[in-house]
Amino acid sequence: MRLRQRQSPLRWETVSGYDALSERAAERVLGAIIQQPRLVLGLPTGRTPEGMYAHLVQHCVGQERCFDGVKTFNLDEYVGLKPDHPGSYARYMQQRLFDHVGLFEGDIFIPDGLAEDVLADEPDLPMHQALERECERYERAIADAGGLDLTVLGLGRNGHIAFNEPGSPFDSRTRVVRLDDETRRANAQYFGNGDVPEWAITMGLATILASKSIVLLASGASKAEAVARLRHGPVAESFPASLLHLHDDVTVLVDREAARLL
Ligand code: PGA
Repeated sequence: MRLRQRQSPLRWETVSGYDALSERAAERVLGAIIQQPRLVLGLPTGRTPEGMYAHLVQHCVGQERCFDGVKTFNLDEYVGLKPDHPGSYARYMQQRLFDHVGLFEGDIFIPDGLAEDVLADEPDLPMHQALERECERYERAIADAGGLDLTVLGLGRNGHIAFNEPGSPFDSRTRVVRLDDETRRANAQYFGNGDVPEWAITMGLATILASKSIVLLASGASKAEAVARLRHGPVAESFPASLLHLHDDVTVLVDREAARLL
């Protein structure tokens, strides 16, 4: 599907470098929590948001329940990894945020790439069906929380957001996807440069677009082409991030390196 681009309402913010970007992103999250203490927050993983998490943790030092009342939904998780696997996003989040900001376990949501709860209820279900059920449960959990208020996204070099690779339908919901080789190579460092899983569960593009507000982060020269394509390219499923042009409350937060082709 290729849509004609409308007047894009994307708000662009360019900051000097990675630390400024991380600080600004953390400010956006904290500002949203102050405005709405029962915030429903969509959260990314990867290299880009690591600085944002560090700033959030720093802000929360000495405050016992800094994120009290907030619910978090991660964008994606690999299929087949236990939550304590060093490459899992559950582990990533635990280490970088959850262990430090006083979130209740019941307020933390990450897709379960082993579908353990589903299989506990229906042990004979084939794995692919159990994973589909897990995706449905995840969508329901977001809806039950009242929908995402603010979602922070990273940007893949191929334009992916969450694990919605090029060609993902704009109307997609949480589902099991196969990862591009480029994405698996880019994430190999989290697996000691070993094999990155081939499959993952990701929020869909429609799931993300339903978030009331979105902040997309891009840092460094390796993202410059993708950032330029987002700014100047058409709205098309071949470049998933272009979907954001169809939302009326998106901030694209980039540093100078990532903005250098604009
Ligand atoms: P990165 O990944 O932050 O590790 O560059 C971004 C993404 O692929 O969404």
